[in-house]
Amino acid sequence: MSHAAYVFDAYGTLFDVHAAVRKNSEKLGPDAQRLSSLWREKQLEYSWVRALMGQYKDFWQLTEDALDTAFALVPSADKSMREELLNAYWTLDCYPEVPEVLTQLKATGAKLAILSNGSPAMLDAAVKAAGIAELLDDVFSVDSLKTFKTDPKVYEEVTFSYRIYPDAVSFQSSNRWDVAGAKKFGFRTVWMNRTGMPDEYADLSPAATLNDLTGLPALG
Ligand code: LAC
Repeated sequence: MSHAAYVFDAYGTLFDVHAAVRKNSEKLGPDAQRLSSLWREKQLEYSWVRALMGQYKDFWQLTEDALDTAFALVPSADKSMREELLNAYWTLDCYPEVPEVLTQLKATGAKLAILSNGSPAMLDAAVKAAGIAELLDDVFSVDSLKTFKTDPKVYEEVTFSYRIYPDAVSFQSSNRWDVAGAKKFGFRTVWMNRTGMPDEYADLSPAATLNDLTGLPALG
């Protein structure tokens, strides 16, 4: 079965969120990887807490707040790198297989879109830097809704916009919690388990699990 739309999470799924720290790892020292993990964990924690509270702050501000907390938790990392790390976030690498897989899916006539917590400006910059802008029909940001995933309103943005039922959407994310939210909403979900994480949310299983996007066109 092929799908009317293929919708992708952005950070960690299309764009490598750890590239910013990796590019500067020599300058950041031995705890660079820990800094990167904490930065991402805090960024996500802030999005969930703010969505629950109904106190929205855009994802760029959360990214800045999270980096400040990560630096506070990793005193060995040189704080003078703050601006350089934040700047790198605007031009993250996309994973190598992404352009080819998007090209294959586009040839099926399906809509291709991003659905992300990212702010419109961040997403616009990342999509352009990765050279995939012309392959995407839409870039949906939570910003117009002033909440974050896994609020069902976020996933509904796609079905409202395309006037299709949830099961006509194939949703891809490397975040297991995002897959759970999308599955609950009714999308066909594919988990990109890029880092060999254990399965979670057993009651909200993906239709398929892949190591990267390469096998997606064959799933239909
Ligand atoms: C996003 C984050 C959650 O792109 O990865 O929505």
